[in-house]
Amino acid sequence: MAMWGGRFQEATLSEFRSFNDSLSFDYLLAQQDIQASRAWAQQLAQAAIISADEAAQLDAALADLAVAIEADPKLPLQTSEEDIHSWVEAQLTVKLGAVAKKLHTGRSRNDLVATDLRLWSKLNAQGVRQSLLAAIAALLNFADNAGTAVMPGFTHLQRAQPVLVAHWALAYVEMFKRDLSRLDDALARLDVCPLGCGALAGTGVAVDRVQLAQRLGFASAALNSLDAVSDRDYVVELSAAASICMTHLSRLSEDVIFFCSGEAGFFKLGDAISSGSSLMPQKKNPDVFELLRGKTGRVLGHLVAILHVLKGLPLAYNKDMQEDKQGFFDLMATWQQSLLILATVLPHLTVNEAQCRQAAELGYSNATDLADYLVSKGMPFRDAHEVVGELVVHAAKQQLALEALPLHELQQFSSLIAEDVYPALQLEAGLQKRAALGGTAPQQVLAALQQAKQWFEQQV
Ligand code: ARG
Repeated sequence: MAMWGGRFQEATLSEFRSFNDSLSFDYLLAQQDIQASRAWAQQLAQAAIISADEAAQLDAALADLAVAIEADPKLPLQTSEEDIHSWVEAQLTVKLGAVAKKLHTGRSRNDLVATDLRLWSKLNAQGVRQSLLAAIAALLNFADNAGTAVMPGFTHLQRAQPVLVAHWALAYVEMFKRDLSRLDDALARLDVCPLGCGALAGTGVAVDRVQLAQRLGFASAALNSLDAVSDRDYVVELSAAASICMTHLSRLSEDVIFFCSGEAGFFKLGDAISSGSSLMPQKKNPDVFELLRGKTGRVLGHLVAILHVLKGLPLAYNKDMQEDKQGFFDLMATWQQSLLILATVLPHLTVNEAQCRQAAELGYSNATDLADYLVSKGMPFRDAHEVVGELVVHAAKQQLALEALPLHELQQFSSLIAEDVYPALQLEAGLQKRAALGGTAPQQVLAALQQAKQWFEQQV
């Protein structure tokens, strides 16, 4: 019988039950439900609602259940209980009889499910945290291995200015550092215990909610019962943090897919992380990165879905909230898996230094350096921009690089140009110049890499 059967005279329709029940997905909260129930039983004993002996019986039976779930996490799926809370109680009843029926005194599935999901979120967010650190470590290694390899940097996907490959990798390290701080931020706010708030108005049992929160490992107890049972901000915040982080993964993937293309050829995928085509024997496809890009769509969808579930809900609990789980479970698993796979595949990605360099030298990516050269000779930047623009058109007509033009031709565009223009047009000269903080000059990138490594050491 359902937990709430007493008021009902007719049996529930099976169609209604299968629509209403959540065991098929909330069974994932079994350990958290047991953990919360053990802490609650302790409080009931302290409040003299149950005897010390009854509390001990409940605790032992719940501990056994935890072991059984550990061995077979899908154990609840063998039954047809409504949800994981009903399942735990039903198991206790089989084992303990009447005592088990006392456990739900003063609590509701509303404060219970809110507690379970917070405990689950805390645990799983730690897993994501570790995976995020693994991804950052892999990027730092990639940057290390890239040394001073140089590639074209793009704006509008047009060659813009040369950058170090390591500089590119460290850009994503910065993004992931922000993602980590967003995750930690969300974790700090979610560390609040709703248990003991009852269905909505608070519990009638004289429990010590602060102690209860402490025993469950929460930083504090929720301060308003209506808010406690209906707050899902932590689901939204973690989903938002996941969405932003996945967006970074997706952009990185897009970069890598292009860099590995025949058109660019900057990076090469190892065989161990590529797949082929069933038809075209020559193909080697970047499926991993395409999947990372694709999975991002799913994660963003889950964020939008939970926001829509919540936006019209009156206080306090509404059954709509049961819809907070499936998408969120999938989101957290996808997030963690995506970060881990990035950490796994990055070591199999190699840089084709010669090809990168050649591409960096093409496309007039030293045009800004020529303008800067003219500025150093006293020409206002706006005029220099104009002169170099005309020079690029002139060089392009002959399919020549700027540095391939003879001095007398260069001088037709500005008499300020002298022999010393040629070293200024060298790739290395352009790189060296971008030496201010955050720039791509090799010594600056090296310093950034050292700093990022130091930051990393402090995280683990
Ligand atoms: N399965 C429900 C959920 O996940 C548990 C809470 C049910 N509460 C209730 N009053 N029906 O939200």
